[in-house]
Amino acid sequence: MRNTWEFYSTERIVFGNGSINQLDAILQRLKAKNVFLVTDPGIKGAGIADRVQGLLRESGYEVVVYDQAVPEPPIQTALDCFEFAKNKAATDAIIGLGGGSSIDLAKVVALLMAHGGHPSDYFGENKVPGPIAPLVAIPTTAGTGSEVTSVAVLTDVENNIKIGVSDNYLRPAVALLDPELTLGLPPYVTACTGIDALAHAVEAYTAKGSKFIPAEGPILFQGSLPISDALAMQSIELIANNLTLAVQQGSNLEARSNMLLASLLAGLAFSNAGTAAAHALAYPIGGLVKSPHGEVTGLLLPYVMAYNTAVEPSKMAKIAQAFGVKPDHRSEKELAYAASEAVLRLLKEIGLPTKLSEIGIQERHIPDIAKNALPIERLIRNNPRVPTQKTFEELLRQAL
Ligand SMILES: NC(=O)c1ccc[n+]([C@@H]2O[C@H](COP(=O)([O-])OP(=O)(O)OC[C@H]3O[C@@H](n4cnc5c(N)ncnc54)[C@H](O)[C@@H]3O)[C@@H](O)[C@H]2O)c1
Ligand SMILES: [Fe+2]
Repeated sequence: MRNTWEFYSTERIVFGNGSINQLDAILQRLKAKNVFLVTDPGIKGAGIADRVQGLLRESGYEVVVYDQAVPEPPIQTALDCFEFAKNKAATDAIIGLGGGSSIDLAKVVALLMAHGGHPSDYFGENKVPGPIAPLVAIPTTAGTGSEVTSVAVLTDVENNIKIGVSDNYLRPAVALLDPELTLGLPPYVTACTGIDALAHAVEAYTAKGSKFIPAEGPILFQGSLPISDALAMQSIELIANNLTLAVQQGSNLEARSNMLLASLLAGLAFSNAGTAAAHALAYPIGGLVKSPHGEVTGLLLPYVMAYNTAVEPSKMAKIAQAFGVKPDHRSEKELAYAASEAVLRLLKEIGLPTKLSEIGIQERHIPDIAKNALPIERLIRNNPRVPTQKTFEELLRQAL
């Protein structure tokens, strides 16, 4: 039995409409003069990259921009981005501006700047030897929580699988969250990213209790903890009340702000508690199909919740209530099963697929998806119900 738990965060979180104007003050505190900005063509197209670059140049910073980040970035993109940075002037701070893809790329570059080598030297848990270069993360999606997490995810295109670096040294120095930057996010991206945040919150909240995680020594994903439970539950409520609104009324700043807060809280929760089966299964599926990460985790979530309900009825019942399901005369167990149904309804409301066949997965893929998810121990051991090849295959067939 594990008797001790701990909670990590980024040192500084700045949140609010217009907070992008704090960037100069943030960089001054980091004593930065030469800045390397990582972003992607979508953020540039939305005018956000130019606005941030303008703010930096007005304040007298030397700025080098890499705007070729791609969604679900391959390992090679991280190497290209690092090479690009190395050939420019010395950098004393890195800015990751964008969704999880740009921020994760910025994390890997900040890691390579500090410690050299190849991203694969750090794949897995607790492989980063010390602090990374100073990183300011500015999210423009409300989903991954990457601005505060200990995780960076890349795609191994040769082996068709997503792989991650997970280490508390990977947390950015500062997370700067300005909801106004998310106003132009298209409905489909809003839906995919928002449902990913829900998957983080639900999986952190329903993770096996930290005492019962079967692992020795220091671990990054510790199972459910009192602090992550509080954060995750608040995140679930915010998403239940705001995601459909943010998708349907993109210019609703209050809904956008609540979603950005929700993804932040979920990021803080899952980067300590961990995620579980939905994320483990999403890794091999993400290597097989081109769907965004959130579409895959979101699709799996209600099926994983139903799979786990018998083992975690009391927390599932609380999730159902966060979604507005009234207890009436229902037993706790009946209420618990209503949680996965509420998530399935939400997927439909926001126009996301609810079946794996809709994203190109076929029956013949199922055994390998189950087989490749089971060894992802840091996530699998968090799942409240212990999965096997057989039960994972059954779960996947239900989702097909
Ligand atoms: N590091 C973590 O803790 C963590 C957690 C979950 C997922 N991830 C990873 O993050 C990646 C997904 O990130 P994401 O879901 O944030 O999406 P993303 O970064 O891939 O962005 C998706 C698309 O949205 C566009 N976009 C982003 N913000 C916009 C805006 N404000 N206006 C207009 N267009 C905008 C981008 O240009 C891009 O084309 C995946 O690789 C996933 O595995 C990381
Ligand atoms: Fe995720």
